Amino acid sequence: MTIYIYSNWKMNFTQDEAHQFGYRLTEAIGHLSKQIEVILFPGNALLTTVSKAIRNSAYIGLGAQNVHWECGGSFTGETSLRMLPDLCTHVLVGHSERREHFGDTEAIINRKTVRIIEGGLKAVLCVGESDPSPSDESVEDVIGAQISSALGNLKSGFGQNLMIAYEPVWAVGSNLPATPEMVNSRAKFIKGFTKQLDYVENSESVPVIYGGSVTLENVGAYLELESVDGVLLGGASLSVESFKQVIRVAEDY
Ligand code: PGA
Repeated sequence: MTIYIYSNWKMNFTQDEAHQFGYRLTEAIGHLSKQIEVILFPGNALLTTVSKAIRNSAYIGLGAQNVHWECGGSFTGETSLRMLPDLCTHVLVGHSERREHFGDTEAIINRKTVRIIEGGLKAVLCVGESDPSPSDESVEDVIGAQISSALGNLKSGFGQNLMIAYEPVWAVGSNLPATPEMVNSRAKFIKGFTKQLDYVENSESVPVIYGGSVTLENVGAYLELESVDGVLLGGASLSVESFKQVIRVAEDY
């Protein structure tokens, strides 16, 4: 079973810093004893630089933080799937910061998700509740609605290009991680929910990862959960040294 260790750089690093990071991480990882997929999500302007820096790594891949739903056209300032470097295999969609600051509505997230999946890349669909103390039922309603809406209009047969990141909004960048028990129960719900969707033919293959204030100290508690396949880190993955140690922790699971 693959363990997914993903790093969202958000709006950090210069070209030079991005190159150094990719190059030093490639050197630092060396050989991994487990099947671990490391994906870096740099800002879009850094993708080409990072793709060059990691090209000799057998373990590190590349993802974009955002794309437009069209393949081209009059959309000033936007990035289309066709502009991504060849090494780019994943795209984040529905991240809470995009929903909050950039007007990514459910309708927009749906268009982007369908474009990414049907374009042959893996959509890492971020879902999660805003309310810090909701009932289990209301969280499941929120997450279920977000997934259904994001996948609406998807043609059948693209299940293998989807993964879900459970990221409660209140846990992202707050130093208030969700408890492992909570994460396991939400991840279990997501796996069950995606199983009954028509366009996910092989439901077992929809991986669920957790994101929200994951650190070197708490990552092990998430990786050992039965329903969780990996983690998406922000702040704690911005240093090569600490991110390398997170990857080493993953080798123990
Ligand atoms: P964080 O960010 O680890 O800093 O909470 C996670 C994310 O935004 O995906």
